[in-house]
Amino acid sequence: MRDANRLKEQLRDAVAFGRLIEAEETLAALREEYRANQTAFTPGFIKDIKQLGQQAGIKRTLKDVFGYDCFRPGQEEVIRAVLAGNDALAVMPTGSGKSLLYQLSAKILGGITLVISPLISLQKDQVDALNEGGLRATFLNSSLDYEARAQRIRGLYRGDFELVYAAPEGLEQSLGQLMENLDIRLIAVDEAHCISHWGHDFRPSYRNLAHLKDRFGSVPVLGLTATATPAVARDIAEQLGMISPFVYRGSFFRPNLRLYSIKKGGGGPNVRDAILSIVSARKNQSGIIYCLSRKTVEATAGFLKERGIRAAPYHAGMAPGDREATQEAFRRDDVDVVTATIAFGMGIDKSNVRYVIHRDMPKSVEGYSQEIGRAGRDGEMSDCVLFYSWADVLALERFTDGLETSLAQTQQGQIRQMYSFADSASCRHQALARHFNEKIEPCKTSCDYCSGLDVMSEAPVKKARQTPPVKYTAPQASDAGQEDAEYAFGEIKKLRKQIADQNKVPAYVVFSDATLRAMAQYRPQTEEQMLALSGVGLKKMEKYGQAFLQALRTM
Ligand SMILES: Nc1ncnc2c1ncn2[C@@H]1O[C@H](COP(=O)(O)OP(=O)(O)OP(=O)(O)O)[C@@H](O)[C@H]1O
Ligand SMILES: [Mg+2]
Ligand SMILES: [Zn+2]
Repeated sequence: MRDANRLKEQLRDAVAFGRLIEAEETLAALREEYRANQTAFTPGFIKDIKQLGQQAGIKRTLKDVFGYDCFRPGQEEVIRAVLAGNDALAVMPTGSGKSLLYQLSAKILGGITLVISPLISLQKDQVDALNEGGLRATFLNSSLDYEARAQRIRGLYRGDFELVYAAPEGLEQSLGQLMENLDIRLIAVDEAHCISHWGHDFRPSYRNLAHLKDRFGSVPVLGLTATATPAVARDIAEQLGMISPFVYRGSFFRPNLRLYSIKKGGGGPNVRDAILSIVSARKNQSGIIYCLSRKTVEATAGFLKERGIRAAPYHAGMAPGDREATQEAFRRDDVDVVTATIAFGMGIDKSNVRYVIHRDMPKSVEGYSQEIGRAGRDGEMSDCVLFYSWADVLALERFTDGLETSLAQTQQGQIRQMYSFADSASCRHQALARHFNEKIEPCKTSCDYCSGLDVMSEAPVKKARQTPPVKYTAPQASDAGQEDAEYAFGEIKKLRKQIADQNKVPAYVVFSDATLRAMAQYRPQTEEQMLALSGVGLKKMEKYGQAFLQALRTM
């Protein structure tokens, strides 16, 4: 037993420090020990080991399938709750990695994980990315014809898929009945705030989800949302019929987003020129520019194009085909900048968006938070520049004319809150967190108020003034090393684009910007070194690793 105890401690250490191979070897040794001397293992001891074994399995899957070395805050806690069979609710900000909660669980649970998501265009993206990582996923929604649906459903019965996305509308129809006979082990409800009347985006189709627990027996339900005050969170749990759910509220503070706020008019810079210099200082980087009206969307895109920027517009007034073309070009990095009305926010998950500019003030702090949430989803530093003015407030208020009185009042209140947020002299991250009932210290470095940074100072015309704040400096790298890394980054980015086009997937699905940065910085020379980088999993190593290794060797 002394041996077993020692092994258990060794296993605990190995798991805690992510030494997964050692963890597996230790588990094997423990198994042997158990076979030799079963009676010495108490039930409590066995339970501990099983738990540690599961933790090792979770971490292993995180690396093998997703390529990540460590969890982001909250991810592991929620996954463990779900794997233990509990209902759970995750309230975590945009871009914090909520999808991983059900994707990783799906891999470990076996059977099928059903994911309800309202965003049909996002389903295809996610399925593509998952298949790249070796997770067998599919989706069923109205974009498929009858035959394609039937084929996928047959696949589900055959056990071809571990995860299936469906829209909430689908559950009402025959699909719902078919689903009831499948081996479903987890139901994830994405954008769960849509079920609540108190939330900012209630959707009637989410009413279909009220009886999930009754229909699918004891299958655990996991709700996910980026915007829920404590009251909305309680409402979600109740509407979904959750039984004493594990609730995780993440922090809304995202230090990799640098927030800037610039007042328009009154001797300040001309907005159009200001935007041009911000965009020009970020050549070949992806960005989104939100505008209030379709007219400014078109005008801004036109203006940037005339100056040689690869920009395209996106708004509800365009023909669906044109809109899709813009979105697709952006996904593939064929267009760098999309100018859009707010409608562009929801359908897109592109991890390398390096900046979001609000040409005009958004109509609520929730909306602002969702929109800047499009930036920096890979964790790299990204800039969020908000232009605002009192004239924007008046323009937005005109949209509330003709609304029913109480709704108009709510919206006007939100507009003014947004203005005070934009105009306040305090840490912007702190103010944003406060809006969601969270108390944080001033960010010190990630907003213009705390850091004194001026986003305009990096404009190319004023380059001589000082080192631009937006430079990815590794602490120990020399300037020359930094230049080399920049060069390598540019080169492997081109390679990524080639590979992505050949495989007909968006570039970031191959490897994220953050992963390319790491490659450029550390120059891995062997498969092993490559696998050690965040974002490189087994499947991707197999598929793309060699091409990148070769490119790096020749630099
Ligand atoms: N542990 C991790 N380490 C590194 N990157 C991660 C990790 N988990 C998730 N990511 C990456 O974070 C990005 C955002 O994740 P995801 O799309 O799940 O966000 P989300 O929380 O669902 O946001 P939204 O509310 O906007 O839908 C993705 O590119 C994902 O691959
Ligand atoms: Mg999401
Ligand atoms: Zn700050």
